[in-house]
Amino acid sequence: MTAPIDYETLYDRIADALAEGGYLLLEQALPEALTEALYRRINQLREDQFQRAGVGREQSLQLNGEVRRDRIHWLEGEDTAETGYLQWMEGLRSGINRRLFMGLFDYEAHFAHYAPGAFYQRHLDAFRGQTNRILTTVFYLNPDWSAEQGGELLLYPERGDQPIARVTPNAGTLAIFLSDRFPHEVLPAASDRYSIAGWFRVNASNAQQVDPPR
Ligand code: OGA
Ligand code: MN
Repeated sequence: MTAPIDYETLYDRIADALAEGGYLLLEQALPEALTEALYRRINQLREDQFQRAGVGREQSLQLNGEVRRDRIHWLEGEDTAETGYLQWMEGLRSGINRRLFMGLFDYEAHFAHYAPGAFYQRHLDAFRGQTNRILTTVFYLNPDWSAEQGGELLLYPERGDQPIARVTPNAGTLAIFLSDRFPHEVLPAASDRYSIAGWFRVNASNAQQVDPPR
């Protein structure tokens, strides 16, 4: 059993870190029971409920095996674990908005399964002025992941090749970062690797392009 989460304190901490450095990493971010339920949920999904993840925008959606090899399933609130996760992120969305006035409007997220050897090359989730994706979240579901299994998320500064953070994809860890500021990559893993990638978005009707469709 873990102690109940004090959400106002947690949102303070997240908002401070975002305002200062643009990113943060949290361990045991969600209630343990919810993390476990999400792990069970992704393991219950059948192979045919996953799709190859696309790269690029609507106009140029391509299935590029060289860039990423994960398979994804969008959260639609189809079971209580998904609903719980989306509600948790709704709390975070309004908590951040109350503190930072980012005008975050909604949230979209997908499960991702990286089979052994799968990776996602260095990329940005958003390009300034061209997207309504503002803030990225990545939540990890793998119980007892060890360093030898690989699969780290590397977070890079805007310019430069030295990672500023290496994230072990261990269950309960949540990475949050500004979508247009931090290039990042997923290193190949030796075992099945499960995560939930998501994006808080603004309602930017003047964005030059619409984000990739589902
Ligand atoms: C993504 C992504 C990182 C991860 O889906 O855009 O960067 O660690 N995922 O799963
Ligand atoms: Mn990404």
